[in-house]
Amino acid sequence: MNNLTQDLFTFIEQSPTAFHVAASAARALEDAGFRLLLEQDPWDLRPGEKCYVTRNQSSLVAFRVPERLQGFMIGAAHTDSPCLRIKENMELRLQGLTRLDAEKYGGMLMSTWLDRPLGVAGRITVATETGVASRLVNLDRDLMVIPSLAVHMDRGAGDGKKYAFQTDMLPLLGDEGASLLPLAAEAAGVREADILAFDLYAVNRDRGTVLGPRGEYILCPRLDDQLSVFSLLRGFLAAKPREDTMPVLCLFDSEEVGSQTRQGAQSTLLVDTLRRISGGEEAMLRALANSLLVSADNAHAVHPAHPEKAAPSSHPRMNGGVVVKFGPRYATDGPSAAIFRRIAGRAGVPLQSFYNHSDIAGGGTLGLLSMCQVSVHTVDLGLSQLAMHSARETAGAEDCGHLIRAMEAVFSSGLACTEPETFTLL
Ligand code: CO
Repeated sequence: MNNLTQDLFTFIEQSPTAFHVAASAARALEDAGFRLLLEQDPWDLRPGEKCYVTRNQSSLVAFRVPERLQGFMIGAAHTDSPCLRIKENMELRLQGLTRLDAEKYGGMLMSTWLDRPLGVAGRITVATETGVASRLVNLDRDLMVIPSLAVHMDRGAGDGKKYAFQTDMLPLLGDEGASLLPLAAEAAGVREADILAFDLYAVNRDRGTVLGPRGEYILCPRLDDQLSVFSLLRGFLAAKPREDTMPVLCLFDSEEVGSQTRQGAQSTLLVDTLRRISGGEEAMLRALANSLLVSADNAHAVHPAHPEKAAPSSHPRMNGGVVVKFGPRYATDGPSAAIFRRIAGRAGVPLQSFYNHSDIAGGGTLGLLSMCQVSVHTVDLGLSQLAMHSARETAGAEDCGHLIRAMEAVFSSGLACTEPETFTLL
């Protein structure tokens, strides 16, 4: 396993929830000299400064202030992944066993979550002397399992089964005395009596692994979309600073549940931040005309058993490079695809394209949603993978490096719009 793959697996292992993804990214940014800005403070920014802001502890925007602002080069990805959200009063005790009540977060492939070790992670909000405070928590251990029903008790289940989440998908915590909050309180270093509310999730504990005779594939939880988050972060930190363009890294929570939250792609987080760092509305709008937003989320590789599900004209494959995505639910258009292809082409990055099969509706991405708040040339792209929204997903081992190089080139570039849909690459 090469160092990059090792680092990717470590990043994902340390980031079981969107809160932890934002914290992992913040740590890498701080190590590179970025400083945290708070939304309630005045921002007094000088050229050359490197800063980041967070919202809800689960979304993050980082940027470097240029000498003069001509445009933005923005890279966006999402911090959340499908998992189980744990409800309050969660312990259900029956037959000497304790299960936890939970609901689906995002559109998971349910069968893949059975019979594997699950942990619990998220955020706890506690009472303090003066008000409330929030703490991230990760019970970093194999703790629970969602047991399958034996095939002997469910004849025919081996040939296919439909799962009812409320019945089939609740994790078994322990015997009838087992309870979760004391463990969470201890892990967070708080008193259980002080817990007022929480955002806790059951998460997959598997570590990534490398497959194939040449180590050509990776199998890992949360590749959607932490493979993009990790690659954008690496590309952002490696980019060469420019005097005329502001590179912006944007990590949004809530993509798996529609992005309509205070911190999601449909929120004002990005536009609020851009307005404040531009020094006003007019300056921001002029800069947005010279800008590109790259929305990175994984793409479907052609499945070996089901090539008929793919468009007959586009065959994204793992390790084939960065996939530019087109279609009614993507933001890509001719000029945005062309600008990106020009930039990635200069960096020597292999590219592919993706369309849905014309009779199969695919998933959406944050590109279109974010564009409703910040209207800017946007290209949807990503790395190809199999088994999207499975507890473990498969992708190409070489592709992470391709996306890092493409994003390093994007964040090192600038754009000047001279006539309608005519651009000079800086
Ligand atoms: Co995604």
